[in-house]
Amino acid sequence: QTTEVLVFGSAIIDFICYTPRLPKPGETLHGHRFQTGYGGKGANQCVAAARQGSRTALVAKLGADTFGGDYLRQLRDEGVNVEHVQQLEGQTTGVAQIAVSDGGENNIIIVVGANSQLSPCDVAQAEELFLEAKVLVCQLETPIEATLTALKHFKGVSIVNAAPAMENTPRELLELASIFCVNESEAALMTQMAQIETVEEAKNAAGKLIKMGANTVIITLGKLGAVFGSADSAGVYQHVAAPHVPAEKVVDTTGAGDAFIGALAHNMARHPQNKLEEHIAAACAVASQSVQLPGTQASFPRT
Ligand code: RIB
Ligand code: NA
Repeated sequence: QTTEVLVFGSAIIDFICYTPRLPKPGETLHGHRFQTGYGGKGANQCVAAARQGSRTALVAKLGADTFGGDYLRQLRDEGVNVEHVQQLEGQTTGVAQIAVSDGGENNIIIVVGANSQLSPCDVAQAEELFLEAKVLVCQLETPIEATLTALKHFKGVSIVNAAPAMENTPRELLELASIFCVNESEAALMTQMAQIETVEEAKNAAGKLIKMGANTVIITLGKLGAVFGSADSAGVYQHVAAPHVPAEKVVDTTGAGDAFIGALAHNMARHPQNKLEEHIAAACAVASQSVQLPGTQASFPRT
């Protein structure tokens, strides 16, 4: 069975504190609840695609610690091909400290640990996966040199989720991606816009990202859905609305962007004849389901 979706990226253990609101600098707050979860944008996106029914493979680095062992078992249980997920001696598994407020907002600190060891050599080692996969997905929680190498070696459709955003993103990263996808805050940082809160502002940012080298851009806007457009769509950007989720049903938006990317990758691999607009609508539907359950991967729907 050949791989449909190949993810080259991060795997991180999440430490999630649910709290009435997000803390201010210097403040100590009582939270309601603590939970660990399997996270990291790469693994999240891979599991999201797997749960949609794609045959997936992950290329990633874990530590040779109990977290790493647990994570490997978890990925196998999700049906992910983990032949190229390595546990490295002397490295710790990546961790994320996450606060989630009652309003469903979050902030995240990541310490990537073993993820920092993903290298261009790993592309060569996973060559057969690069040859057979339909869609490649990368993010920015692993070293950029490795990501650029992966993109250069891949001949199919590539999705780059430039998250978390980096300042001075190399033009090459935008140019090499078939689809360049960011959320509103990442797009604002990259385009030096003060804010992106409306569909119009997002369309404006999409135009800037095209000028910065992107072929096709998707900017996700949370409950507002997403805007997209291509270098050849002559400055016309389209909006796709997300299904409405009542505010009281939004419990945790952590990983919603990853649910979106994973579902997008699955749809592009499985239904290449469909329009991008249809893929985005399907991905928005999956993301909006994920915000209604706590946790990251734990909240991703199965079909
Ligand atoms: O996108 C959500 C993810 O970001 C979390 O799972 C956390 O691990 C961080 O990588
Ligand atoms: Na969730």
